[in-house]
Order: sequence, then C-alpha cells, then structure tokens
Amino acid sequence: MRTSQLDLFGADFTADPHPELRRLRSESPVHHDPATGLWLVSRYADVRAALADPEAFRPDNALTAVTPISRPVLRVLARAGFSLPPTLANNGTDTHTGLRRLVAGFLTPARVAAFEDRIAELCEERLRTPADLHAELARDLPCVVLMEVLGISDVDVPALKAWSTASLELFWGNPSPERQHELAVDASAFHRWLTARIRAASPGGDDLFSALVAHGTPVREAAGLCYFLLIAGQETTTQLLSTLLDRVLRHPDVWLRLADGEPGLAAACVEEVLRREPPVTTWRRVTSRPVALSGVDLPAGAPLLLMLAGTGSDPDVFAEPESFCPGRPGARKHLAFGYGRHFCLGAGLARLEGEVVLRTVARRFPDLRLASPEPPPMLGLLSFRAPLGVAVV
Ligand code: HEM
Repeated sequence: MRTSQLDLFGADFTADPHPELRRLRSESPVHHDPATGLWLVSRYADVRAALADPEAFRPDNALTAVTPISRPVLRVLARAGFSLPPTLANNGTDTHTGLRRLVAGFLTPARVAAFEDRIAELCEERLRTPADLHAELARDLPCVVLMEVLGISDVDVPALKAWSTASLELFWGNPSPERQHELAVDASAFHRWLTARIRAASPGGDDLFSALVAHGTPVREAAGLCYFLLIAGQETTTQLLSTLLDRVLRHPDVWLRLADGEPGLAAACVEEVLRREPPVTTWRRVTSRPVALSGVDLPAGAPLLLMLAGTGSDPDVFAEPESFCPGRPGARKHLAFGYGRHFCLGAGLARLEGEVVLRTVARRFPDLRLASPEPPPMLGLLSFRAPLGVAVV
C-alpha cells in the first residue's frame, strides 16, 4: 500500500476519494495513517461490526478535534466556558439513553412527516431564477427547518451558519494555529449563545431548550448537546442537498423523469447518493479492549476512522457500486447514517428534505442544467465532503 501518498485532507482525496477507498478496501482494510494516528477501517463488514458493538468500539472520540488545538486557542475556548461532555454521538455512558429519547421526541416519524409541505414551501420561496442552488437553497433551508422542528425561534440564521461551519472546520479540519484562533472565536460565540438560551428557558415550554431544563440536564451537558445537534442537524443536510442536486443534474434523463413526477424516484435518488457520496464520509470510534478486524490485531485505545464513504461502494455488498442506479436492490443497506445504538436520529428528516427539495426543483425547472460539467469546488474535512457551489443555468 502506498501509505506515503494518502492524504485525508489532500485536494485529490477530496475531489474523488473512491480510488483510494477502493485500494484501502482491497489492499489494507485496516490501515494505520501516520499523519492523523487513526486506523482507517474501510470494508463494509468491519465498519458495521464496529458500529454494532459500542462496548468494544466506544464513541468517546467522535467529537475530538482531529488537528490538536493549540494552547492559546484552548484558552479562548475555556474563557467561553466551552466544553463537549458526553451527550449523544460521543456518549458511551448510561446518560445516553435518556438524552437520546429526549431528542427523538422532536423527530418522531409523525412530526417529521408533518413538515413535508413546509419544506416544499421554503424551497419554492427560494427558487426565483436559480444560479447557485447551494447558496440559494441548500445552505440555509435545513437550518430554518431544524429550528422549526426544535421549536427554536428568534434565530439569526446567517450567524448560526457562520458559527456552525467554523465549528466543523475547527474539529474536523486541518487549520493553522492562526486559523484555529478565528474559528474558536466563532465556536465560543455559538456556545455562549446556547448557554444563555438554556439559562433563560423555562421548563414549561415546548422547545428543545425547555425540554432539556425539564429533563434536569445540567447546563454544561445541555449546551454540549445543543452545540452538536444544531450543527449535525443542519450542516449535514446542507451537504446532502448540494451533493444530491449536483449528482442528479449530471443525469439529465433522471432529471426529466423527476420533472414528470415519477413516483418514488426522488427518494431512490436520495438513497443512491447517500450510498455512493455520503456527506458524512467517516466517523470515529476507539477500542476499549484488544480486538481484531479483517485479521489485523488492534490494541485497547486504538482510535479508528470508519470510512463510511467507502462502505457504500464495497462490491461485496453493492453490485457495480460505481454506477448511479436509483432504486437498486438493497439500496438502504448503506451506512451513511451509522448503525446500531448511535444511529442518526435525524435520518428521516434528512431523507424527507432531500426528497422534497429534489422533487420541487425538478418539477419547477425541468430544463435546469449544471453551468459546467467540471467537478465543483468541494468542502473537504475529515468527516464531511460536499460541493460548495452548484452553479446552474
Ligand atoms: C444527510 C444528513 C445526515 C447524515 C449523513 C447524518 C449522519 C450521521 C452519522 C454517520 C451519525 C453517527 C451514527 C453512529 O455513530 O452510528 C449520526 C448521528 C447523529 N445524527 Fe445525523 N446525519 C444527518 C442528519 C441529521 C439530522 C437532520 C439530525 C437532527 C435533526 C441528526 C442528528 C443526529 C444525532 C442526534 C446523532 C447522534 C445519535 C446518538 O449518538 O444517539 N443528523 N448522524
């Protein structure tokens, strides 16, 4: 395996990770990356086995900054009272069940389904003369939807987006110390805003902050949970929408069938994009005891990078994985939303947003085309990958 050339933050890997992911799966399915210290696990069966066993493969490192944060920047965060104690994705303790149940109450299938018309309305409002579907549609729509789902009002959406994109880069990017400082200022402002909203919440309200207070969640835990949820619940869907629109517009025949209203096709396209180009490309776990994966022995305490994006193209599970084939058999077996105890709580909402947006845009603009066949500029973080623009004509 050509270890020296693998750069998880490199332009080549971001532009198209599939050649490297294919090589990893076949030549080195459990591969130590010296640059990050992570063990890259790339086969579907291994990734699923790790996700299915949260005792041996703990989630404690899910939100750890991959690029160590410098001391002066840690002081900026500490002054803001910033901390990410175990709450949801990074919680292997027994407080996880109660907090997960609390958040799941906002995302029941019935509550999510009730948002279908609202998502279509928000989409219509944003589509006058489309020029960049990322800036006009994908960037803000999931944030507006999430705030309404969680009952949170009086939100400055552009500010929240700036805070959350900065947070993604701080924890999953490879920023210089100077850049870390800028990002930490935004992350701290976000955390301070959340803490103030939680302190001001009354236990009788029907919004997320009130529910956390009524649950008796300490402010530090509540702020950490909201920090994760308000980022995870909309940045990932922004990424899904941009990827989805970019990918499907590359198949004009499929676009026309969507414009004609073919039943089930929009949902099938969402699944196919999640399988092949998932927005959450990797997720971390840490071993609690010595384990073996694909014949490789790992000690206790080994940090793993589960290559979700590679699992959707594992030929042992998906035939002809490189072809775009909406409606393929077993399409929903992908691991784009994880698996097991920490399975994504927002999968239903993200799927609905993808489906409604795709359907609405295609019906309204059946002749829409990408402005250029060239690959778009991409967001390329350790765990997140998506187009930063979807220019159309
Ligand atoms: C396309 C969009 C999304 C993708 C690809 C995605 C992906 C993921 C992944 C890979 C995990 C880790 C699962 C595991 O460890 O097994 C996760 C966890 C989670 N996601 Fe999502 N997600 C998306 C949208 C959302 C939305 C819209 C919400 C909320 C409204 C959300 C809330 C959560 C929560 C709360 C967890 C932690 C669950 C737990 O630890 O119990 N996600 N997501």
